[in-house]
Amino acid sequence: MSVVKRRSPPLPSPAQRQWFRRRLLTWYRANGRDLPWRNTRDPYHILVSEVMLQQTQVDRVLPKYEEWLERYPTLETLAEAQEADVVKTWYPLGYNIRPRRLQTIARESVERYGGVLPSDEETLLSFKGIGQYTAGAVMSFAFGQRAAILDTNVVRVLFRIFVGKGEPKSHRMIKRLWELSRAMLPHKHVFDFNQALMDFGATVCSARAPLCPTCPMKRGCLTVLKPTRRPASKPRLRKVR
Ligand code: ADE
Repeated sequence: MSVVKRRSPPLPSPAQRQWFRRRLLTWYRANGRDLPWRNTRDPYHILVSEVMLQQTQVDRVLPKYEEWLERYPTLETLAEAQEADVVKTWYPLGYNIRPRRLQTIARESVERYGGVLPSDEETLLSFKGIGQYTAGAVMSFAFGQRAAILDTNVVRVLFRIFVGKGEPKSHRMIKRLWELSRAMLPHKHVFDFNQALMDFGATVCSARAPLCPTCPMKRGCLTVLKPTRRPASKPRLRKVR
């Protein structure tokens, strides 16, 4: 029996990619949120923000990010701190494995890399606590590299606009969405583009209340264009006496 290999549909054309990049960056410049980790290129500060944001909402991260950096402004200060203090400072963000792992990264960076966070993907991925998403975030935000990101917001945006059907959380789809995220990356303004993808997913293309009628992508979006994807309205029931 011959095995039929399912081929992925082609990636968006250069014109589609250009359309998406332009629209997203224009939207971001007018509507992007002013968040403190967007005003720095310090790799350690960016890493702290991304690890905090892994399981916690922006509003809860904001005060803790400032407090943390006042207490541990550099990799060295974090490396030298007492573990118990580090975990206490993290409170109430939760998932205490995160501050412990941050401290391990700080200690290894001091011991092996001269107190500098490495910028290459392989070394970043070798740290516990840094996965593909966080590596892409650090590489693009701190080092200006053309590295893609894919978190839950970005999954939703790319899936809705460019895929439209299927199971967004399947292994196969996630692989495809990583390819899409890479293909969409512009050659310039990677920092803004990746931040924009996340903001767009958090505010316009949100999970519960997407703003499709005013969305700048609606003309090219597979999810809005497909009538079958609109929630069917419930038939009204007449009261029967
Ligand atoms: N979630 C994860 N990273 C983020 C970032 N840099 N800005 C806003 N939300 C995020």
